[in-house]
Amino acid sequence: MADGATSFSQFAREAVRKQTLYTLGAPPDADVKINQNEAPFDLPDALKQEVFEHLLTREWHKYPSIDAAELRERLSALWQWPAEGIIIGNGSNHLLSVLYRTMINPGDRVVMPTPCFSTYTMQLEHCGAHIDTVRVDRHGFDTETLVAKAKGAKLIMVASPNNPTGTVLPMETLDALLQSGAMVALDEAYAEYLDVDGLSRMGQDVPLIILRTFSKAWGIGGVRFGAMMGPTSFMKEVKKVILPFAVGTMTRAVAHVMLNHADERMAILDEVKSERERVRGVLEAAGLRPWPSESNFIVFEPKDHTPAEMFNALLAQGVMVRNISGTIPGALRVSISNVAHNDRFVEALHAVLGA
Ligand SMILES: Cc1ncc(COP(=O)(O)O)c(C=O)c1O
Repeated sequence: MADGATSFSQFAREAVRKQTLYTLGAPPDADVKINQNEAPFDLPDALKQEVFEHLLTREWHKYPSIDAAELRERLSALWQWPAEGIIIGNGSNHLLSVLYRTMINPGDRVVMPTPCFSTYTMQLEHCGAHIDTVRVDRHGFDTETLVAKAKGAKLIMVASPNNPTGTVLPMETLDALLQSGAMVALDEAYAEYLDVDGLSRMGQDVPLIILRTFSKAWGIGGVRFGAMMGPTSFMKEVKKVILPFAVGTMTRAVAHVMLNHADERMAILDEVKSERERVRGVLEAAGLRPWPSESNFIVFEPKDHTPAEMFNALLAQGVMVRNISGTIPGALRVSISNVAHNDRFVEALHAVLGA
């Protein structure tokens, strides 16, 4: 990923000074809603202003360019993958639905870990897929079973890091899956938090599709922008399914501005990661069994409260986390936010635990 991801650099400090980036230490909003793995802050006004200025240069009465070549070239430079093999969409949910509609026929077997991001199941069931699940738990993916089941499957659908568990797919498992003959769709919604990602495995003869979103580390979940990459020949098929002009002029303007500030956006990641380890330490010390996570969220397991009791007690303190006990019995998930919000979570937790 961008060089700025390795440290909270000089560059980021300069960006803070210019007001194009907030650090995690900036003042919080009133609400503490840490249930959707969003970025810790809204964009600074300076960036929104830049979007407005960009939009003034556009012709709103005209459709945007049909191939979005300029934007795809910029993404190509960012991810080092040919622009012909990149399709943009309104977030990865949109692109996942396009992917499934391109390749899944009723009865096709799709292998995926469980629990995983819930929209996969919803959308795949809609296409009539036969979903074949493999367990993932606090110890990681059941890689042996995953690889064993991959043979003969139409698609292997994996998020890495996985939501809600935070688990990372080991590279050697990805390599084994790619040998299986099945297409692998790797949802890297949280890839910016990782040091290693699947991009290095991409190739024109490799059956690998990668999905990226600007909703998480890039901080524009409300705008809806993402991209899908894969071998050019396969992406040509996908282009037959996605509607023309799916991503409009407004969204493209925001994406351009985000790319103008890529290093600044990525510079915030180190702070999120160190906050994640701080929150993990608090959960650990309280005996709440945090799961390993290489993302911007942590699963934890209360011991003297049911998940519903813990969720409601935190909410009564003004802090909303996610009760995921429907998919992971006994568990909740907290997103890592800015320092002030994380502090509020820690205070609320201690109040609930009577510590
Ligand atoms: C694994 C995963 N994929 C995709 C998404 C959705 O991304 P987008 O906002 O780009 O639709 C999420 C959102 O939580 C996610 O956790």
